Amino acid sequence: MADEDFVKVASLDKLPPGEMMRVDIGMHEILLVNLDGKIHACSNICAHQFQQLNYGELNGEEVRCSLHGATYNVVTGDQLPGKYAEFGPIPVYEVRLDGTDILVKRPAR
Ligand code: FES
Repeated sequence: MADEDFVKVASLDKLPPGEMMRVDIGMHEILLVNLDGKIHACSNICAHQFQQLNYGELNGEEVRCSLHGATYNVVTGDQLPGKYAEFGPIPVYEVRLDGTDILVKRPAR
């Protein structure tokens, strides 16, 4: 994987453990999550009606959409059984660290 496929999106000091934040790569909104010091990246857009997941509630590996309650695993992108489960999953993205820089693999189109 070429290094140019990865984009710096944030610094570790802006994303403490247990927190999430939205970043953008071009037209793609990405949700970054710090789970016990390991950074994960998934789409920030709910598969149901496109609410931004950074407005939702993070509980461990799960983020719950603020609009109607669909819940996703931020590590796998899988939608958990329950509300609107037929709309998932959401994309997840590869993450690398370069010192304190968080890099995410550029989404395909
Ligand atoms: S927009 Fe997320 S559950 Fe409806």
